[in-house]
Amino acid sequence: MAFEKLPYYPFFYFIFVMFVLNLSIASDTLSSGRSTKNGEKLVSTDQRFELGFFSPGNSKNRYFGMWYKISPETVVWVANRDKPLTDSHGFLTFSHDGDLVLVDQSKSVVWSSNLSRVVKNPVAQLLDTGNLVLRENFSLNSDDYRWQSFDHPSDTLLPDMKLGWDVKIGFERCLTSWKSKDDPSPGDYTFRLNINELP
Ligand SMILES: *[C@@H]1O[C@H](CO)[C@@H](O)[C@H](O)[C@H]1NC(C)=O
Ligand SMILES: *[C@@H]1O[C@H](CO)[C@@H](O)[C@H](O)[C@H]1NC(C)=O
Repeated sequence: MAFEKLPYYPFFYFIFVMFVLNLSIASDTLSSGRSTKNGEKLVSTDQRFELGFFSPGNSKNRYFGMWYKISPETVVWVANRDKPLTDSHGFLTFSHDGDLVLVDQSKSVVWSSNLSRVVKNPVAQLLDTGNLVLRENFSLNSDDYRWQSFDHPSDTLLPDMKLGWDVKIGFERCLTSWKSKDDPSPGDYTFRLNINELP
């Protein structure tokens, strides 16, 4: 009987189980040299937020963004708001300078984190707060984040996110509505702080 042979291959079972586990545990990090091929998603450790490709409403366009895992239609952040991908190709990866980039089928950059400094061993991590951060692989300190999605909100304010002006570097964070349910490109409404008068 064929079954008689099975107990002789414990190592095979071990490899098989590791393989299955590996496929089912989604990671919260993307490290240098890797990319999100085949529609792979990042999931925050507490399983609240998911990051990946989506098509909103009736749209056929594809965007890279973040949503609540239990409610995928509640998108909280979009990277390529006004530069959708029009086919099923494209992935998120790192440029030579360590920028987080979204590239299309022809490997041209559709969206970039636009860093001014080089990151040598970049890691992108989706935190439990819903903040996508880019950092050097050895540094966990939030003061060392080279880029974070919380600095570039779309239309949703999450807890811990700050809005308004960073006067020191002349940088503004504000919310901008989607154009429509099917189109996350910037719409007619913004929510911002007026710094010319008393807030
Ligand atoms: C990155 O910088 C370029 C040139 O300064 C600009 O055209 C582009 O909109 C920026 N992209 C993002 C995502 O900020
Ligand atoms: C960071 O990445 C470099 C290059 O891959 C590696 O040598 C180093 O051990 C990594 N450090 C940590 C803390 O992961």
